[in-house]
Amino acid sequence: MLKNEVLYALEQKKGNVVSGGELAEKLGVSRTSIWKAIHTLKTEGNEIITEPNVGYRLLPTNDTLSQKAITDMLTTGFIGRNISILSSVHSTNQYLKEMDTSCIPDGYVLLADGQKNGRGRYGRTFVSPQGEGIYMSILLKPKNIQQNIRLLTVCAAVAISKAVENNCGIRADIKWVNDIFLNGKKLCGILTEAVLSGETGEVDTVVVGIGINTGNVPNEIRDIATSVKQETGICGIRNSLIAEVLNQFEIVYSDHMVKSKMQDILSYYESRLFIKGKKVTVNNYNEKYTADVLGIDENAALIVKTPNGDVEHITSGEIQLQ
Ligand code: BTN
Repeated sequence: MLKNEVLYALEQKKGNVVSGGELAEKLGVSRTSIWKAIHTLKTEGNEIITEPNVGYRLLPTNDTLSQKAITDMLTTGFIGRNISILSSVHSTNQYLKEMDTSCIPDGYVLLADGQKNGRGRYGRTFVSPQGEGIYMSILLKPKNIQQNIRLLTVCAAVAISKAVENNCGIRADIKWVNDIFLNGKKLCGILTEAVLSGETGEVDTVVVGIGINTGNVPNEIRDIATSVKQETGICGIRNSLIAEVLNQFEIVYSDHMVKSKMQDILSYYESRLFIKGKKVTVNNYNEKYTADVLGIDENAALIVKTPNGDVEHITSGEIQLQ
């Protein structure tokens, strides 16, 4: 569609003026067609400034998701090489899980501009307002499907932490097992889910769901959640952050299959584990107790020491900083 091509051309020169004539020539259409496309893009909420007699400027804060813009920044071999973007969906994870995944390629990425029923662990809601976050699911077809799914969550956490640090210049901490924190508040949650094959009933696919708050944080979660914009003032970063998360994820995901490299991934994870050395409350099914966090083991279980000196490796449940 012409309007998408116009937006992409402006996105490539984000912040700078592009003349109507240049756009018309580049896209092989009339200036009137460009003008109409710009008008539609503006009514759709894109931050385009018309500079009279000069041209059009896409503001650096504009944050429209663009498949082409993301693809341009990818360095991956297979992760994100097939991307779909939906305007709104109940949940990108749920959507993918309901599809016939046998015909979807390994590394496929589904993105949504907003989610009506974004899901977190333990059936919780992941608040996903339109345009204010990155809501994406990566479909994986691991060769060794018997592997520990928790390790994929660890891979995603490491990739997101690195991507946020690279793109936003701020330290991104990890809370075991699936949360990324900035300055003590939740920035991102990861929900990794196994998908059963319709034919064999066995796990054949894994969906790694990632939700990152990038824009305005709704009032109801302001006490516990934050965003890239809130912490850094940076806006208009969704496309580049998505690409960087995918780039980092492919590296970490490939590395995690090599035993010696898995150790590096776990070390990085532990270096960002802000609860390490701290006292936490462990909430595991009906059990609740306090413990000191020692680190994580090779299976990404959390190692804690209970008040009576027992060392435990926790594989499920949640922890709360005291
Ligand atoms: C959590 O906080 O417990 C995990 C949150 C995971 C949210 C992401 S957003 C994209 C994907 N779709 C969902 O419904 N959930 C994940």
